[in-house]
Amino acid sequence: MILVTGAAGFIGYHLCEALLARGDRVFGIDNVNAYYDPRLKEARLERLKQRPNFEFRRMDISDRGAMAELAASNQNVTRIAHLAAQAGVRHSLSHPRDYVQANLVGFVEMLEFARHLPALAHFVYASSSSVYGANTKLPFAVEDPADRPLALYGATKKANEAMAYSYSHLFGIPSTGLRFFTVYGPWGRPDMSAFIFTRAILAGEEIAVNNKGEMKRDFTYIDDIVAGVVAALYRPPAAAAGAAPHRLYNLGNHKSEPLMRFIETIEKACGKKARIRFADLPPGDVKETYADIAASARDLGFDPRISIDEGIPRLVAWYRDYHKA
Ligand SMILES: NC(=O)c1ccc[n+]([C@@H]2O[C@H](COP(=O)([O-])OP(=O)(O)OC[C@H]3O[C@@H](n4cnc5c(N)ncnc54)[C@H](O)[C@@H]3O)[C@@H](O)[C@H]2O)c1
Repeated sequence: MILVTGAAGFIGYHLCEALLARGDRVFGIDNVNAYYDPRLKEARLERLKQRPNFEFRRMDISDRGAMAELAASNQNVTRIAHLAAQAGVRHSLSHPRDYVQANLVGFVEMLEFARHLPALAHFVYASSSSVYGANTKLPFAVEDPADRPLALYGATKKANEAMAYSYSHLFGIPSTGLRFFTVYGPWGRPDMSAFIFTRAILAGEEIAVNNKGEMKRDFTYIDDIVAGVVAALYRPPAAAAGAAPHRLYNLGNHKSEPLMRFIETIEKACGKKARIRFADLPPGDVKETYADIAASARDLGFDPRISIDEGIPRLVAWYRDYHKA
């Protein structure tokens, strides 16, 4: 049985679909919070609940009592994909305590849960490219210093890596942290640029283009991310003498796209021009991300295939269908 936290979320939903398609049994948990429209989360869950091998429990990972109950009835969990978190860089400037609760308190509860599972083979958790902060050495490699995140969101993700390492060292829990780079695709998050731009362009509304468009992002298509997470789940780090069984990997497309090209790709898929208003770089945002994926390719067989030219039309097609736009 594989436990997926954040199963109602964007990446969690797609991961559950992929695991179920492989024939795995999946237990999903999520508190279905209102950070963005919970109807989107409910709609994702509706699809999963039609699958015979899927079970779901609505619960908060930072609720110690609920976690104890989960542990009592789920001793047969063999792998964990821990994706539940308070996501979003900008929201962390206005709602810091949400990040402490979900990403720090919740993360400790997940580690404690993992520590007491007799059959656990691997604890995989979501980290983020945000840990690199304003790192100027490109592409970003896992060996690069990543101790100056520019916002609390990245700081909590960096803390997760340290926390997981310590549990791995102390209790021998095989653990892998995956640093995701700007994930997009169908069923994507309404607070992220791909969705925001698609919605506004189709509605004929203005879009704010930060840092006057002088930004680059390594945009990663959801199916590529999910393939990386599944590969990681089934490849726990081997125990080596004197070293904790803990690894970190970047999961990105290994292609840093200029923001203006990203917007042009969405315009083309929408068949409509964007109304652009140039804005400054918001505090906490980084100008550029670019993933070095040599280690993930070597150890996980990670091989991202979908460029934005292919992925963006798929997102726009889903958006139009789902929102009748
Ligand atoms: N999407 C990206 O580009 C991206 C990039 C880097 C890292 N990540 C990380 O990947 C993971 C998944 O991100 P996503 O894009 O699917 O986000 P998401 O917000 O769609 O999914 C997260 C899910 O976790 C749930 N959740 C939050 N707090 C919880 C709690 N205390 N208890 C139970 N459930 C809780 C939410 O309701 C949500 O459904 C997160 O850890 C995020 O930080 C995402």
